[in-house]
Amino acid sequence: MSDAHNEHESAIKTPKQLIAAVFASFAVPIILIILLVQFVTSDKLSGAGSQSQSPDAVAARIRPVAAEDYSLKDANAPKVLQTGEAVYTASCAACHGTGAAGAPKMGDAAGWGSRIAAGYEGLLKSAIAGKGGMPAKGGNPDLDDVEIGRAIVHMVNASGGKFKEPEVKPAAAAASAAGSASASATASASASASAAASAPASAQAAASSK
Ligand code: HEC
Repeated sequence: MSDAHNEHESAIKTPKQLIAAVFASFAVPIILIILLVQFVTSDKLSGAGSQSQSPDAVAARIRPVAAEDYSLKDANAPKVLQTGEAVYTASCAACHGTGAAGAPKMGDAAGWGSRIAAGYEGLLKSAIAGKGGMPAKGGNPDLDDVEIGRAIVHMVNASGGKFKEPEVKPAAAAASAAGSASASATASASASASAAASAPASAQAAASSK
C-alpha cells in the first residue's frame, strides 16, 4: 500500500477498539453533563477564605473605624461653652488661684471687694480687654465672652460676691465661630457686630448641629 492510502486509515482497527470507542462516545458526554449539573446546582463550595463575601464578614470589614462612643469633632460646629469652673481651672487659676502678678485671689473677699463694686459688666470688660498684669481674656483668646463671664462669676461668687451667671445669647456662639471661620483678626471686637449680621448663619449652624 502506498503512503497516500495510510492517511485515510482509521484509528480503530480492531472490534475491541470499536466497542471502546462506541462506549466512550456515550459515557464521556453523559459524565460531563452529570458533573456540569452538579456544579450548577450545588451550593457554594466553602473552602479557605470563601466566607469572605458573607454578609457578616462584609459588615465587619466596612464597619466604621472608630468605636461607637467615638465622635468626630466638627471644627465648624457651634462652640460648646465651658462652665465657669472649667474655664477658671484651665485659664485663670494660674494667677487667680495663687495671687501671682498681684491678681486678686479666688476666695479673697478683701481683694475682690472693691472690684465687685465695679459691677459684673465692668469686670467683664476689663477681663476681656486686659488690665495691668491681667492679659486679655486671661491670655486665652479662644474663650468666648460668655465663658469669661462665667469664670468671673465663678471666682467672684466664691469671694464674697453675688453675680448671676451670664445668659447665653443664641448668636454668641455662632458669632465667635463665624468670626474665627472668616479669619477676621478682630473677631472679639467685631463679634457683637457680626452677631446681628450672621443671624442666618447661626440658624443654619443650629440646624446642621442636630
Ligand atoms: C497672667 C495672670 C492672669 C491670668 C491667667 C488671669 N488673670 Fe485675671 N487678673 C490678673 C491680674 C494681675 C489682675 C489685677 C489687674 C489689676 O487690677 O491691675 C487680674 C484681675 C482680674 C479681674 C478684675 C478686673 C478689674 O477690673 O478689677 C477679673 C474679673 C479677672 N482678672 C478675671 C480673669 C479671668 C476670668 C481669667 C481667666 C479667663 C483671668 N482673670 C486670668 C492676672 C491674671
